Amino acid sequence: MLSVVAYIAILIPSFLLIQFFYKAWWKPIRIQKRMRAQGIKGPSYNFLHGNTKEVQDMKIEATKTTLPTLSNEILPRVQPHIYLWTKLYGRNFLSWHGDRAELHVTEPDLIKEVLLNKNGVYKKSVGEKYMHKVMGDGLGIAEGKKWMTQRKLANHAFQIEKLKHMVPTIVGSVQNMLEKWSYHEGKEIDVHEEFRILTSDVLSKTAFGSSYVEGQKIFEKLGRLLSLVTANNLRVDLPIIGKLLNYYTNSEADELEKEIRESFMQIIRKRIEKKDSGELNYYGSDYLGLLVAANQETDEEKKVTIDTLIDECKTAYFAGQDTTMALLSWVIFVLAIHTDWQEKARKEVFDLFGDKHPTTSDNNLAKMKIVNDNDCKRNVSVISSSSYLTQISSL
Ligand code: HEM
Repeated sequence: MLSVVAYIAILIPSFLLIQFFYKAWWKPIRIQKRMRAQGIKGPSYNFLHGNTKEVQDMKIEATKTTLPTLSNEILPRVQPHIYLWTKLYGRNFLSWHGDRAELHVTEPDLIKEVLLNKNGVYKKSVGEKYMHKVMGDGLGIAEGKKWMTQRKLANHAFQIEKLKHMVPTIVGSVQNMLEKWSYHEGKEIDVHEEFRILTSDVLSKTAFGSSYVEGQKIFEKLGRLLSLVTANNLRVDLPIIGKLLNYYTNSEADELEKEIRESFMQIIRKRIEKKDSGELNYYGSDYLGLLVAANQETDEEKKVTIDTLIDECKTAYFAGQDTTMALLSWVIFVLAIHTDWQEKARKEVFDLFGDKHPTTSDNNLAKMKIVNDNDCKRNVSVISSSSYLTQISSL
């Protein structure tokens, strides 16, 4: 007769095996069937890897091609799987990251609905957990009460009146960049690199009261950290077994995380010293100042821990710079191709400002029709969020 130990020795592996097949096979097949019944098609689920192999192969193939010099057809190059699958399965489709179902939404109105998330039904993607290393538990990742408290602080720091005060700083940074360009008359300029410096400078000055030089190291380290962690983004967590392994361990990434933390600690200490020495009345009205003040709070309800403070700094650096830099480069590129729009935009700027710098006092910024054109903005938002991905956690 089998002993109790032998029973347990058979039962536990059998239980784990059943769970494994439930997660890795039965559940994905069921979700796929239900979605197809609702008209949402997509590439078929493959055991364990889902569609990650196809995505990887398509990406490798796409990088072998060269875009024509004046082509703005970036989607087949950067997201070849989304390009192909929207053509095959429609504007909204289902694909698989391992056993995780991913619903891609490319219709602008649906993207808007997901981003507005009025009923709070769309959870932030837990699948992007590798991003924790870059953004910690900052606004981009936090949910619920923590998100609400942090969001209030951010809203406060970026109120329209505060944004208006940032205009002279932004103008100053742009002026510096243009002056540098004037020495390159007739020569080629790498605008993407220029906008990297510009956005880093503006963000460092407006949100953190430091300069590009001070922020530069942090941006470089965050960039390196991002490339290390995104190298894993097509890696699949094996159901059950994956929980026991930590795929995201990487000693260089861990080291970078520590260094980034220390750099932020230095900026934070400096701000506290300025207040203590009387150089500043308070901690400052920029984002960093509000976060530091919240960290110094004695009321536990309002207090922001030092870890949260650092996570929010990381989030703002990461979320604010790469996005704006890419948008500026893209706008300049599109204007370079469409010279008629370039002329219209230039004429509008000169008609409204002449040779003066933009200010907020004359309200001319709001009068810019071409630059603020809503159809134009809509196209930008469609292109910049060519696909919004939401995760199906349970069906
Ligand atoms: C062209 C520029 C930008 C684009 C296209 C852009 C795009 C986006 C998108 C699509 C989201 C929503 C992500 C999601 O919910 O999954 C987001 C969130 C966020 N962005 Fe931006 N962004 C830009 C500039 C900035 C700047 C300049 C900052 C900060 C200085 C910033 C900080 C954030 C933060 C903190 C969040 C999270 C907000 C929350 O969850 O409450 N972004 N951004």
